[in-house]
Amino acid sequence: MSIDAPISMAVVGVGYFGRFHAEKISQLPSAKLIAVADIDAKRASEMGSLFGVDAVTDYRDLLGKVDAVSVVVPTSEHYQVVSAFLEHGADVLVEKPMTSSLDSAQRLAEIARNTERILQVGHLERFSGMVETLQKRIHRPLYIDSVRISPFKLRGTDVNVILDLMIHDLDLILCLVDAPILSVDAVGSSVFSGSEDIASARIKFANGCVANIVASRISLKTERRMRIFERDQYVAVDFDRRTIRTVCTAPESLSVGIPEIETEEEDYRDGDLLKREIDAFLRSVASRQEPVVNGEEGVEAVRAAILVNNSLRSHADFVNEIDAGLCGPKKRSQPLHSVGMHSMAGADSDAGEILVPLVDLKTQYLSLRPRIDARVHKVLSEGRYILGPEVEELEKALARFSGVRHAICVASGTDALKIALMTEGIGPGAAVFLPSFTFVATAEVVAGLGATPVFVDIDQETFNIDPDDLCRCVEEVRRDERFRACAVIAVDLFGLPADYATINEIAARYGLFLLADAAQSFGGSVRSRRVGSLASVTATSFYPSKPLGCYGDGGCILTNDDSRAQVIRSIHRHGFGADDYSAIHVGVNSRLDTLQAAILLAKLEVFEDELKARERVAHYYGSELGSVVTLPSCPTGFSSAWTAYAILVKDRSGVREALAQAGVATAVYYEAPLHLHPAYAIYGNGPGSLPVCERVSQQIVSLPMHPYLDEATVGRICQIVTRALS
Ligand SMILES: Cc1ncc(COP(=O)(O)O)c(C=O)c1O
Repeated sequence: MSIDAPISMAVVGVGYFGRFHAEKISQLPSAKLIAVADIDAKRASEMGSLFGVDAVTDYRDLLGKVDAVSVVVPTSEHYQVVSAFLEHGADVLVEKPMTSSLDSAQRLAEIARNTERILQVGHLERFSGMVETLQKRIHRPLYIDSVRISPFKLRGTDVNVILDLMIHDLDLILCLVDAPILSVDAVGSSVFSGSEDIASARIKFANGCVANIVASRISLKTERRMRIFERDQYVAVDFDRRTIRTVCTAPESLSVGIPEIETEEEDYRDGDLLKREIDAFLRSVASRQEPVVNGEEGVEAVRAAILVNNSLRSHADFVNEIDAGLCGPKKRSQPLHSVGMHSMAGADSDAGEILVPLVDLKTQYLSLRPRIDARVHKVLSEGRYILGPEVEELEKALARFSGVRHAICVASGTDALKIALMTEGIGPGAAVFLPSFTFVATAEVVAGLGATPVFVDIDQETFNIDPDDLCRCVEEVRRDERFRACAVIAVDLFGLPADYATINEIAARYGLFLLADAAQSFGGSVRSRRVGSLASVTATSFYPSKPLGCYGDGGCILTNDDSRAQVIRSIHRHGFGADDYSAIHVGVNSRLDTLQAAILLAKLEVFEDELKARERVAHYYGSELGSVVTLPSCPTGFSSAWTAYAILVKDRSGVREALAQAGVATAVYYEAPLHLHPAYAIYGNGPGSLPVCERVSQQIVSLPMHPYLDEATVGRICQIVTRALS
């Protein structure tokens, strides 16, 4: 196709809306309408003769014969029609919603990417000058309120009001709020179409913005408006009158008294939006530039709509349970989302009842429920429970997140450590250095492989392995000659990365393999280098209470080393090579379940925001408790994933008792260093041999730490600790 030649186009589906597409295309000089398709033969031929073009009843007759196509068929047929045209080399403009399922929307976007075709999704309003103005004017929306009600149109029967109408607002709101969705609460009701005709959704975004959206298709009149509140301005959009009204405080009235406000009202007579949309599509086709609403954006709007739909369904289930008498009175009187810690601030509790848990997975699930459920349902509907596509997707996402080339998911953090050591051939005769103050798994894998754990003391500030004591232990083993000094496992305790710069240097000096036990620190970093990229090989855990936790056991090995990655990948699947038939290594069976991968993918979407929330909690504890307890240290340039918030206190039992009385959970990680555990005593030198970790284990206590802790609750915990120590 030469740049100047008109683009040959067809319209598939020339019902109520499709015929407008045909009309606009035939008016635009950059396009040449050459055919229409419709399963209704009479309609096809009427439209064919109206526009003087070929008419077919089977869109497949047009495959390979047009440069581009407008697809205006029912949503349920979008996937089939759009994928066929993309695969036959045509660029596609598809009406919104892109599809009715997330999976098929994602597949369409992928086909467009792989075939290098333009795929534009017809979110019409995006082509109006009003939305262009909003995108420039709105920087940090705090609250958005939108209403879209209109009379029922027959073409909406194959989808509910969410995919029919609300998706317009979802798309607009997503492009104004540049943050992932954290939670959705929606209710809906079916009045006459068999699916929801009216619905209201409240969406919380990870940047704190809240959107309230009402959509209805049972009204007699049409009303389409949106109000957007920012800290210093209020913008009201009327999509019917096509006006934008902006209200803000007049700059000269910032001092005292009633502030003066400035109001500006702008009219937007954009002309013909559909024509603008098709024209924009044709320009993308000619220039091969990304269209204004590309496949990925279409997917995001569908994802948001599916989240709303999932929430509607779970609300409907809840109402049905109440009607069926399945919810007892106690349950019924509790609001759906009132969970322990939110109601704790200022509350007294019967001792023993936990109001503030250490980690609150229930609140996290309630908040992420639509996205987790959607991911889980997809796995259940596809049935690929072992090594399904989610595992590969997760591995790519984890590698990208950590800044390394390889992430291999395994069945637990313990297996991640074990497989990493197996890859290095660690076994009898090998000495492996590790801090004594860690979870037992770090030592268990070493002993389990027949090697010898050598316990090292910790730094009293960071609670991580002490580099000086590591050197002392390595020298001692080298003098002894019974064992080969082979490896060191650095543990990132409570989320804080170990001192990798120094430990890497020591490992290189003594020829040791350095394995990072990052079971507790995924998400942490050192000078912007994420955990996963700080040692030759890193093992992490997705145990439920970890910052990135699944709903069972799970783990991952991260590395930049291609040949190590190949061996790890083989060992975790019975030692198989590429063909899955012959074992080329002695391996293990340690795969992450597809369901767990799906849950982790959903959680990964909000992980960065959760890490920031953990950081805020840690900061708040620090600012309140700094003068009464020894705080966990986080050296400059280090960033902790804050798996636990562990403080040192002299009167540990008094503090724990006071917190327990108020319903605040605490825990002691760890009551004893490993060289004092009965099973590992044979590898150590008894009490007194590692003084720092022995002292720390007497004084340490962990306070509640998770991203859903509010400031009032943390404040109350700090008050109780302070009072107990005064
Ligand atoms: C330091 C450390 N290493 C290893 C593990 C083992 O991980 P998993 O429970 O996933 O096997 C844990 C788990 O808590 C841990 O804290």
